[in-house]
Amino acid sequence: MGIQVLAFGKLNLSLDVIRRQASGYHDMKMVMETVELCDDISIEVSEGTGIELTTNLPFLPMDGQNLAVRAAEVFFRELNLPPKRVTIRIFKRIPVSAGLAGGSSNAAAVLRGLNELLGMGLSREELMPMALLLGSDVPYCVVGGTVLAEGRGEILTSLDPLPGCHIVICKPNFSISTPSLFQRIDCGKIRHRPDTAGICEALRAGALDQVAVRLYNVFEDVLDGRAKEIMAIKRALIDAGALGAAMSGTGPSVFGLFDDEALAREAHLRLSKSYRETFLTRNRRETLI
Ligand code: C5P
Repeated sequence: MGIQVLAFGKLNLSLDVIRRQASGYHDMKMVMETVELCDDISIEVSEGTGIELTTNLPFLPMDGQNLAVRAAEVFFRELNLPPKRVTIRIFKRIPVSAGLAGGSSNAAAVLRGLNELLGMGLSREELMPMALLLGSDVPYCVVGGTVLAEGRGEILTSLDPLPGCHIVICKPNFSISTPSLFQRIDCGKIRHRPDTAGICEALRAGALDQVAVRLYNVFEDVLDGRAKEIMAIKRALIDAGALGAAMSGTGPSVFGLFDDEALAREAHLRLSKSYRETFLTRNRRETLI
């Protein structure tokens, strides 16, 4: 028996780091959004044992280092299910190590997919502890939509959905280490913080432009040598007519929100000439579970 599931990318409309926990993790305050840009996942469960993963990107780990494989392991282990053979195929479109939660979203989709395929009927609340075992962004990726994420990322509050818009995402050709960016941030010295309350208020009012002018990610201020390129992409998006732009997660992807489709298409075309991994997408307003 098998199932097909979609794993959507996420954006941080805002990202704030509040404090370092004793555990080494950080308390966050982030407004998250889901985009239509997605990976296709098929899951088959049959008699036997072992988890097999194949993807269209040969450089990705295919073993327990891959969060999709770990998600299947965790699902069977936490629910004490008898072992089965699980075959996962992923067609990736979301760029890897990009701040778009591609890996977390794959893991979340495997949890949702197995829940449905095996008829377990777990609620989103019941999936949350398993999701958090896999990573801080995985609980959000199980749920999707416009959400305020706090704690490590697992305390989720639904917000009024971001009005439908056109989104250009541009990933420059380098990657940023998430742990090293967290190490570099000093919560006592953050100079600019996003206006999270203002974003929530703008969402309540359904005012896309008021959300867009408040997009901000505190990691943009601790980027070191990479800041110039990130800022140049932000500026290019704004010059092309974006209502606002920011880096997503720990980067390096930068995105811009547009209310005008033609301007978004033009921005996508222009940035594609310099950046191979440039995408034109929309936000996805429905929650996933
Ligand atoms: O939870 P996840 O495995 O995705 O986190 C990757 C790394 O990011 C952690 O090892 C930690 O260094 C950092 N992190 C953090 N606080 C968070 C989320 C992630 O310090 N809330």
